[in-house]
Amino acid sequence: MREENQSSALDFILLGISGQQKQEDFFFFLFLFIYPITLIGNLLIILAIHCDVRLHNPMYFLLANLSFVDIFFSSVTIPKMLANHLLGTKAISFGGCLTQMYFMIALGNTDSYILAAMAYDRAMAITRPLHYTTIMSPRACVLLVVGSWVVGNANAVPHTLLTARLSFCANKEVANFYCDIAPLLKLSCSDIHFNVKMMYVGVGVFSVPLLCIIISYVQVFSTVLRVPSTKGVRKAFSTCGSHLTVVSLYYGTVMGMYFRPLTSYSLKDAVITVMYMAVTPMLNPFIYSLRNRDMKAALGKLFSKSTSQ
Ligand SMILES: *[C@@H]1O[C@H](CO)[C@@H](O)[C@H](O)[C@H]1NC(C)=O
Repeated sequence: MREENQSSALDFILLGISGQQKQEDFFFFLFLFIYPITLIGNLLIILAIHCDVRLHNPMYFLLANLSFVDIFFSSVTIPKMLANHLLGTKAISFGGCLTQMYFMIALGNTDSYILAAMAYDRAMAITRPLHYTTIMSPRACVLLVVGSWVVGNANAVPHTLLTARLSFCANKEVANFYCDIAPLLKLSCSDIHFNVKMMYVGVGVFSVPLLCIIISYVQVFSTVLRVPSTKGVRKAFSTCGSHLTVVSLYYGTVMGMYFRPLTSYSLKDAVITVMYMAVTPMLNPFIYSLRNRDMKAALGKLFSKSTSQ
């Protein structure tokens, strides 16, 4: 008897992304590549923003906060996946499973509320340039950030508690590389009607920021089209492209995963989750810094400072 089986009577099994060994090896190396880049890229963004006083304004503080959340978001699932692959196991304890689920929901929601705060910030900068500094005061910024964390965590608590109450029978094979709520609910042999209802409520809470983002951008575009473009408006507008790219990547993949009936989930959907779990957090820093002159200058300064010492 293999040792692994002795300790794992209560454990869940993470089937992975495809279930096929060759493809799992591929994803292992992909994640091994993606994870350090995500950590370093986001850390550099935070450092560059904090070290350059010209970037001490709401837009960049919110961006630094997004990077901060992304560091934790990708750390919820990727290290466990890498470790399991190296150790040749697929097991995760029930506690570990719930922990992953909690932080995935909490940080995913926080992420999307910060994206909404960033859209609101751009909308205010463009539609009300004269009042911008009073609307986006340091206090308002802190409130937006703290609010994002509170709502994110508040949305994670009920799902985690409701899942903790479920009983699981013989089949404990989670059809993903981490404990995601949908594949976990499918495994339960309890009555999951209420859980599923709550899951859709959760998806609703998660969609509120998207609505805010859409409203913000409708305002932005109508202003930009109406007002003959002044230099200030053009400069404020130039950063909207990066933000919209991140928003579409993030929401496009999340919607593809959760806006449908529970019965339609299968292992092949794990590939979609790779996109928002691992790829978007890695791309955020690049999308913002490659298209933004101030950000590039700040990063350049950070490097020249560290090499001149
Ligand atoms: C997040 O935003 C707040 C408020 O603007 C700011 O004070 C804080 O430094 C930011 N956090 C990070 C990690 O940059």
